[in-house]
Amino acid sequence: MALWGGRFTAATQDEVAKYSESISFDQRLYKYDIQGSKAHVAMLAAQGIIPEKSAKAIAAELDNICKRIDKGDFSFSIEMEDIHMHIESALIEKLGAEGARVHSGRSRNDQIALDLRLYLRDQAREVIAMIRTFQKALVDRAAADKDAIMPGFTHLQHAQVVLFAHHLLAYVEMLDRDAARLEDNLKRINVMPLGSGALAGSTLPLDREFVRKKLDFAAVTRNSMDAVADRDFAIEFVSDLAIFAMHVSRLSEDLILWSSQEFDFIELDDAFCTGSSLMPQKKNPDVCELTRGKTARVYGALTALLTLCKGLPLTYNRDLQEDKLAIFDALDTAKAILRVYPPMISSMQIKRQNMKRAASDPALMATDIAEKLVELGVPFRSAHHRVGAFVKYCKEKGVALNQVTLVEMQETIPEATEEFLRLFRPVQSVRKRALKGGTGFAPVSRELRFWQKRLADPQR
Ligand code: ARG
Repeated sequence: MALWGGRFTAATQDEVAKYSESISFDQRLYKYDIQGSKAHVAMLAAQGIIPEKSAKAIAAELDNICKRIDKGDFSFSIEMEDIHMHIESALIEKLGAEGARVHSGRSRNDQIALDLRLYLRDQAREVIAMIRTFQKALVDRAAADKDAIMPGFTHLQHAQVVLFAHHLLAYVEMLDRDAARLEDNLKRINVMPLGSGALAGSTLPLDREFVRKKLDFAAVTRNSMDAVADRDFAIEFVSDLAIFAMHVSRLSEDLILWSSQEFDFIELDDAFCTGSSLMPQKKNPDVCELTRGKTARVYGALTALLTLCKGLPLTYNRDLQEDKLAIFDALDTAKAILRVYPPMISSMQIKRQNMKRAASDPALMATDIAEKLVELGVPFRSAHHRVGAFVKYCKEKGVALNQVTLVEMQETIPEATEEFLRLFRPVQSVRKRALKGGTGFAPVSRELRFWQKRLADPQR
């Protein structure tokens, strides 16, 4: 008979038991469920709600159950529905009436809210640490080739020359915001809901502060109805993961392009690619492609959670049980990405010569010419127009921008001097971009040093 059996005459139908169970996926919360129950019974005893000796017996048996689950020596069955009931019935089985005191002043509604918060608090911290490792791999990879130059793109067209390191550091920035979002999310996760009961708190003199301190939460929830109905903290978590996955998906797209024959800027290590069952010459960037695909799954999880909550009246509704499938899938996916990318980035070879050749396209320096004219006092719009006419002239003549004489250049750019002919050197173009945040050698070196220092500091 189920733990709620008192009011029921018929047992749950088989198919319904299968339909309603969550033990197949919420068992991963067992440590947190036990941690929460231990804090709860300690409080119950301190408040004189249950005898001290019952609390001791319960705590000891909870430890025992935890060990059994750790070892795989605990049987889960769908009849017992979820992790909360499994642990409570194991307690009662062992301790009888004594064990039956554990659920005083508590509901599974505030219990699952607590378990999820404890779990996500650990997971958010772990994901943040993994993001730091990923950032470090990018920074080290950038530093190893810090003077490699390549074309930068807008609209996937050659735009201006940039440093490869600058390109990688752009992702370090994105990941930093991802970690910062999770840090911020932790403020909302780290709030203690126990004492909210099913929805209306409890008539028992519970000490919520006691439980808060014991579980090291920053605060207790301020409204019992909100506390059992709220999944914002989890939606926010998955939303943070969705943004993170989007960033890695963009990086993946860059890597896919760069490893194509058309770009040929990098070579991913064989360990991160696969071949074709048909075409012997193929080496495919599967990991990157899968990440684009997995990103779609993370978005799916976010959409599922938002949709799950949008029509729910207060307070707890069983729909909320489905939240865990989406949360766990998004989390597992993000962590899988985070395990694979750092070694893939560290082992990637870059083809500096090919990058450099592509960066030598003189058209990449067209803006440099316009800015040179601005330095000489020409209004930018006129400068832009003159250089545009120059580009058109070269195109019609079928020559590259740096294959004309000064006299020819002066037809469209009357201010041009010998110096203009030297503006087509990519290294010089990079060097001149010395502003903070720019792609010049000096600012990029400064950024590399900034990140190396920051990521080496565990306190940050
Ligand atoms: N397994 C449930 C969940 O995941 C726990 C809460 C159940 N509460 C209830 N009143 N049936 O949401």
